[in-house]
Amino acid sequence: MRPIIEPFRIKSVEPIRMTSREERRELLARADWNMFKIPAADILIDLLTDSGTGAMSAEQWAGIMRGDESYAGARSWFRFKERVQALTGFRHVIPTHQGRAAEHILFACLGVEGRVVAANTHFDTTRANVEYLGGRAVDLPAPGAHDPQCILPFKGDMDLESLATLLAGADGSVACALLTVTNNSGGGQPVSMANIRQVSRMCREAGVPFYLDACRFAENAYFIKTREPGFADLSVETIAREMFSLADGATFSAKKDGLANIGGFLAANDDRLAGREEQLLILTEGFPTYGGLAGRDLEAIAVGLHEVVQEDYLEYRIASIRYLGEGIVRQGLPIVQPPGGHAVYIDAGAFLPHVPPACFPGQALACAFYEQGGIRGVEVGTLMFGGGSTPRLELLRLAIPRRVYTQSHIDYVIAVAGEIAGMRDTIRGLRILEEPAQLRHFSAKLEPL
Ligand code: F0G
Repeated sequence: MRPIIEPFRIKSVEPIRMTSREERRELLARADWNMFKIPAADILIDLLTDSGTGAMSAEQWAGIMRGDESYAGARSWFRFKERVQALTGFRHVIPTHQGRAAEHILFACLGVEGRVVAANTHFDTTRANVEYLGGRAVDLPAPGAHDPQCILPFKGDMDLESLATLLAGADGSVACALLTVTNNSGGGQPVSMANIRQVSRMCREAGVPFYLDACRFAENAYFIKTREPGFADLSVETIAREMFSLADGATFSAKKDGLANIGGFLAANDDRLAGREEQLLILTEGFPTYGGLAGRDLEAIAVGLHEVVQEDYLEYRIASIRYLGEGIVRQGLPIVQPPGGHAVYIDAGAFLPHVPPACFPGQALACAFYEQGGIRGVEVGTLMFGGGSTPRLELLRLAIPRRVYTQSHIDYVIAVAGEIAGMRDTIRGLRILEEPAQLRHFSAKLEPL
């Protein structure tokens, strides 16, 4: 069988630098064993996030030069708005500097104080925004979502029974329902069109607004095309349009499937709500025809939203994540199955049974990948989400930037995973020395036990 290749050539390169193991041990200590505090120059392969870390195309760079920086009514704004409207079908498009700004404006204007936001799983900033505004973020993942070895085509689905229970007699207490596509905190797993349709119908019947957190809509649409009966012959763009058509609005971080380094938007059909959102946008981000962005950013996103639905790109994208996932499993590290759309999630809890959740197995494994190979991933577990009474998965996420690394980079990561498998028993847990009140994983100070 022919390999699925990167569907691009490289026109511009960025050197990366190897460090020694001794240097990296020293760097880890200086960074308080927190991945977010290691300077990027000291990372060999940076899999911390797929957000804003992608490579732009020649067309996007050309768009950067075309950027119209007029304060009001810039040409770039109209190109951006037209592309977003053609793709999503939403009447109102509100440009923000990134996804979390869209979330904040949405939740502030919907009024979540004392109310519930129900999601398949909230991403960390989404949950933090709901809670900051006095709301309660409730996760309703489908059965099987928390079993890493359970292989299902759409493990990102929302649990409809729980949603029905929540909506029954909610009487205004549910501010909105939110489907995160793909479900980042749940392993990058896709949500089926059947599930989107059902959630949409149930919300409409209950009079509850239904939103998509659409950061990775194209990857999700590609999974629908390849896994859900009836979609094989439709284009990804057509599938994406159907996904958006079922929602009342969407939040979007263009740093993922916008193929841009910064940006986002909030989209909605409700005229009155959009009016309030524009007012808050002017107060916090900028005038409605640029929001939180420069004209050049609007151009890059408009082009990115065309490129991201191209099927040779998505075939390569999803195949490269699967390739990494299968390689890591071959080396003896368990992962959340099946591999997701943008990242491989190593089941650190299962791999390091001698490190209890309170000692952050995901973080211990993150430190091991850095020390051993200069690879940076991010813990998604007790460090990110806090302790609490419900047991959660202890994961190390290796997120793959878009169009950045080649197959040999990925082979290198797989080789390092093999080395780590051989030193499993020597990996120790950590403890927290200092932490902030919210989103502690970004700045906490840790030390090894
Ligand atoms: N929603 C999801 C599902 C996300 O993954 C992110 C960001 C956001 C919202 C917020 O978007 O960063 O533009 O403000 N995820 C990044 C990550 C940071 O690493 O997964 P943002």
